[in-house]
Amino acid sequence: MSRLKITGGKTLSGTINISGAKNSAVALLPAAILAKSKCKIYKVPKIRDIEYLLKILEVLGCTYKIEEDQIEIDTTNLKNAPVPEELSQQMRASYYFMGTLLARFKRAEICFPGGCNFGSRPIDLHIKGFEALGAKVEIIKSRYIITAKKLVGARIYLDFASVGATINIMLAATYAKGQTIIENAAREPEIINVASFLINMGCKITGAGTSTIIIEGSEELDNGVVEVFPDRIEAATYVIMGALCGKNLHIKGIIKDHINATLIKLKDVGCEFKATNDEVVISKCKKIMPTDVHTQVFPGFPTDVQQVFTVLLTQAKGKSHISENIYELRFESAMLLNKMGADTYANKNVLTINGPTKLRGANLTVPDLRGGAALVLGALIAKGDTILDNIPLILRGYEDIVEKLSNVGAKIEIIE
Ligand code: EPU
Repeated sequence: MSRLKITGGKTLSGTINISGAKNSAVALLPAAILAKSKCKIYKVPKIRDIEYLLKILEVLGCTYKIEEDQIEIDTTNLKNAPVPEELSQQMRASYYFMGTLLARFKRAEICFPGGCNFGSRPIDLHIKGFEALGAKVEIIKSRYIITAKKLVGARIYLDFASVGATINIMLAATYAKGQTIIENAAREPEIINVASFLINMGCKITGAGTSTIIIEGSEELDNGVVEVFPDRIEAATYVIMGALCGKNLHIKGIIKDHINATLIKLKDVGCEFKATNDEVVISKCKKIMPTDVHTQVFPGFPTDVQQVFTVLLTQAKGKSHISENIYELRFESAMLLNKMGADTYANKNVLTINGPTKLRGANLTVPDLRGGAALVLGALIAKGDTILDNIPLILRGYEDIVEKLSNVGAKIEIIE
């Protein structure tokens, strides 16, 4: 099994170009089957989740052509097959086929989704949304069987502004009869990205990016074209890396508004950088101050960035806190940073970080995607070598991470 070897202590400079966003792309591929004959998606990242989604599309009778980072999908021969368990369990986003198969066939059969493990991750809000549109949802063994005689638009209030539920209900509503209104919808950029794809296919949607989304059901959607937004989590990860060990490190191809919460926190702790609409230039922050971070839905500080931000706070002088308000168990990587010399402890959903601490290389097993990224950052500033196991979890979300980091001067390689 391959592992990642990182030798710490290098200064990183040069340019890192940000890839298309995982969490947009993994919704856009399932959305493709809403098109009756074909559609095209630009700037698709080469990550493992995409490989599995393409396999699911094949099972459903679709064909596709890949040219560099563009994928053209032909849905002419789409058929309603059950999504195999070994594919759906590879990632969380396989659940978007519930919404799109339901929309196209009024029936979806799919196993429980997979994804990173940080506590219970229910999908009750997705289910409630499908039911509100007129579907019946049964769970037989580990399969969801979702059926509807017809889908009729409805007014749906989400108890929590869930990204997945907002997108899934929006997808299912595209072919419902009449108008669907999603209230307390999530406002993450991924939702705007998916809505713009659906609008491009011919669907009438207003309000994406706000708390109220209105979808007018259609009879025929086709020929959608969309470009995946830059990955805001990858961008935030590398900007934080620049604050740890960069020298004029350019993070390029971002949308600044999508990473504002991270940039504001970096300013709070004393980091200096130059930011334009599509680029951040950052160098190692010499004096890092402690802070308190509360994870929130967009535009708040993202849960997906807190693990990486923790590494920065291990270098702050004093006590910092991270309150994780989205997922109950997302501190496993902090416990692993302790094995590198960090001083953190978790009490329920609050992590306390005492700094500054000198980190040293260690042999560790990656616990989850963003936790893996945090360990990579820890390894880059640690003394000595770090060996990371279970690296497919990192490759799930960071396109070409080894090449991107090597190109700016990191000593990082995949070893057998
Ligand atoms: N929730 C429910 N019921 C639901 C849906 C969600 O209780 O039906 C709860 C979850 O348990 C969680 C909170 O609501 O406590 C947020 O969940 P949300 O649905 O917003 O998250 P998600 O759609 O499952 C996506 C990303 C995650 C990211 C979150 C939050 C994808 C495939 N995943 O998950 O990405 O952390 O939004 O922004 O888009 C990652 O990239 O590492 C990752 C985990």
